[in-house]
Amino acid sequence: MNKKLLIGAGVALSLLVSPFSQAFAAEPTVGERKQVDNVAHRGATGYAPENTIAGFDLAVDMKADYIEIDVQRSKDGNLVVIHDTTVNRTTDGTGKIGELTFEQLRGLDAGSWKGEQFAGEQIPTFEEILDRYRGKVGILIELKAPELYPGIEEQVAEALIERNLDKPQNEKIIIQSFNFDSMKKMNTLLPKVPIGVLTSNRAHTTPEALQEFATYADWFNPSYGIVTEELVEQVHSLDMQIGSWTVRSQEAADFLFDMGVDAIISDYPDYVDPRK
Ligand code: G3P
Ligand code: CA
Repeated sequence: MNKKLLIGAGVALSLLVSPFSQAFAAEPTVGERKQVDNVAHRGATGYAPENTIAGFDLAVDMKADYIEIDVQRSKDGNLVVIHDTTVNRTTDGTGKIGELTFEQLRGLDAGSWKGEQFAGEQIPTFEEILDRYRGKVGILIELKAPELYPGIEEQVAEALIERNLDKPQNEKIIIQSFNFDSMKKMNTLLPKVPIGVLTSNRAHTTPEALQEFATYADWFNPSYGIVTEELVEQVHSLDMQIGSWTVRSQEAADFLFDMGVDAIISDYPDYVDPRK
């Protein structure tokens, strides 16, 4: 997680030895760029159905550093991985996640909407994702609308503790949410697991707001529309890292590289690292 600036040795040397070189310095190539974590947003969502094993497996094949998952809870208390608070958009069913039983949720087809080749993909369970991907790829766990699921923080913590994923060497686990109170609670439950706060609100980028986040969060993760170089510097000065979303174009990825963020959260892992 503590990847710092990697400056191309050749570029640095040429700057030192030639007084004219700065004026003619070439743009850094991909190999000379800062090492940025490549986070597959809900899996390789540009190419496969979001939040499914097919999409997460593809992200691993594409050499993403992390998969990002959205965690919610069924009516009967099972943790499931799906983005919307209803199943309407990404499955062949209808209804709210929290009003459907685990059996009902698992009976839905979460792949066909993206393409017939994905027919039969199920809504994954949280535990299934931990067991399948731990050690293979980092997992950025988003608690989606945790206010709808009282006690979900304890349940997520328990699943991680059972698997020894709550330790400093935790095989690259990060927990994030738009719900800041939930993340404060998560930090209390799992003090050694990195915490992220999500926002697309500029009001959350003031020095005061950032200082408050830094009391419990390790990552400040804004939408890319509010990212500036100054914001990146401020976040770094508070010893937090910054990951930004949701990249769906090469231009957006390149913008975030230029800003100096630490992680790029994208539907297209190949936009973040075309070498992989
Ligand atoms: O990881 C950032 C991103 O997932 C936040 O937005 O709506 O895609 O969950 P959303
Ligand atoms: Ca998410």
